[in-house]
Amino acid sequence: MAIEWYPGHMTKARREIAEAMTGIDVVIEVLDARLPYSSSNPVLETLRSNRPCIKVLNKHDLADPLVSKAWVHHFEQQSSVRAVPLEAKERGAALNLLRECQRLAPHRGKPGKTLRAMVIGIPNVGKSTLINTLAGKRIARVGDKPAITTCRQQINLPGNITLADTPGLLWPVLSDQNGALRLAASGAIGDSAIDYVEVALFALAFMQERYPQRLHETYPYTANLADPAALLLELGRRQGCLVGGGEVDLSRAGEFFLRALRGGKLGRISFEKPGDEIVAPPPRDEEGIDASAAL
Ligand code: G4P
Repeated sequence: MAIEWYPGHMTKARREIAEAMTGIDVVIEVLDARLPYSSSNPVLETLRSNRPCIKVLNKHDLADPLVSKAWVHHFEQQSSVRAVPLEAKERGAALNLLRECQRLAPHRGKPGKTLRAMVIGIPNVGKSTLINTLAGKRIARVGDKPAITTCRQQINLPGNITLADTPGLLWPVLSDQNGALRLAASGAIGDSAIDYVEVALFALAFMQERYPQRLHETYPYTANLADPAALLLELGRRQGCLVGGGEVDLSRAGEFFLRALRGGKLGRISFEKPGDEIVAPPPRDEEGIDASAAL
């Protein structure tokens, strides 16, 4: 899936989400628990205004549990915000979100006072999976284009809660190079849009810095290699990612490593923790849109 986000798409998505938001009591923002900062779009904070928000740290099964705990603490410093680590396919845990909705909007969710919630987030964080789990059947379509917030139906959930059946789709902010590389390493950006070698080298360097033991336990032959390029070469050689003549196909080696990382073969990994240095977003135009964010 290549993501093509152009300023026109972003303006339209922003307008439609703002319209859809008018009747909403609680916003359920789905983030990737492995990279809650880079999988968010700051424009949501403007769009949701003072509305209460649940930040779902989804794909918790892939994230470092201690780091997720730190993110919960970090987010819950903000007023009217709850943060919940989650695995979107788990119905029991998903239904707990409804109780959080009621806590955040105690005046709603009663007979005659329906609580209206809406799921929102960038592509691939698990919005559709969460909606389908809450609904108990396949409803939400997976989409990689904005403007799917119109003509939506409501799903009736327990506790006098309704949920829009299509999620609000925000665009990823790709102007922070490291953030974009983290998104690519996690699988949030379609593989057709990424350079496996560049992303794998970034991810290998990250693993060496944050989780060296996991790297060495999974691939013991990497223990004495300090240079990510040498690591990738050795991985390729050992995994048989070769081209004619016996040379290592670095792109295939990179793809192999990224698939292993995303699939949890190296254990539960978080790419960002609270307090990591965050690059300030670039200046925005009058629509509040980062026009450099298109891929
Ligand atoms: P989106 O609507 O935000 O674009 O995301 P979507 O629900 O389509 O989920 C994107 C991918 O993430 C899907 O995998 C989905 O199964 C997976 N996913 C969603 N929630 C979780 C979770 O809590 N844990 C894990 N490990 N994965 C999750 P896919 O391979 O693209 O599709 P599929 O073959 O699984 O359907």
